[in-house]
Amino acid sequence: MIPRSSFVVFEGVDGSGKSTQLERVTQLLRKEGVLVTATREPGGCGFAESLRSLILDQDELDPWAEAMVMGASRIEHCRTTIRPALARGEMVISDRYLGSSLVYQGMVNGIDVEEIYRLNHLSAEVIDPDLVVLLDLESPRKISDQSTFEKRGEAFWFAVRDGYRELAERFGWFIIDAEMGLEDITEAIIGRIFEKAGSKS
Ligand code: TYD
Repeated sequence: MIPRSSFVVFEGVDGSGKSTQLERVTQLLRKEGVLVTATREPGGCGFAESLRSLILDQDELDPWAEAMVMGASRIEHCRTTIRPALARGEMVISDRYLGSSLVYQGMVNGIDVEEIYRLNHLSAEVIDPDLVVLLDLESPRKISDQSTFEKRGEAFWFAVRDGYRELAERFGWFIIDAEMGLEDITEAIIGRIFEKAGSKS
């Protein structure tokens, strides 16, 4: 069963290999004839990409301000990129999405997770993914972006990791051990995507 009009999100701590896997999975799916729109957050459309550097360069933003800017970017990302691609029958894969707000602005920055969820769903444009894949790491040894890591420190990294684990249990996200080999991870994700597609039809 070829996956169509399906929305898949990759989540994980900094350095978990999300972007590498997104590229591998996208390429493999395209080889199989699946039409894929690959996107990312913060970003994924003109408006949100313009906000991206502004947001990521800020050291100290009020948690609510951060949550609202992420939410505003997501509304436009959904309206102009995700929804149109799904309407064309394509599969959408996003590197980060609402799960990042639930973990970073919610679990880690101390805003109630339900409030973040509600804030994001104030606009009917924002949709829930069909599948969330969590690339889970035991420790930050695979950190690729040293600058981000060094800036926020180890305690932050573990808080994010624990937040992801808790929400993955709560919302039934698909957890993958990101310490596995690249090919095994790709295979597991593709397997889950096809399994989901089969159960949707
Ligand atoms: P990025 O450089 O894309 O990191 P990565 O390669 O790990 O995805 O930076 C994205 C950062 O933005 C990351 O630290 C998580 C954060 N973020 C939030 O705090 N809330 C959100 O809703 C999103 C989408 C990202």
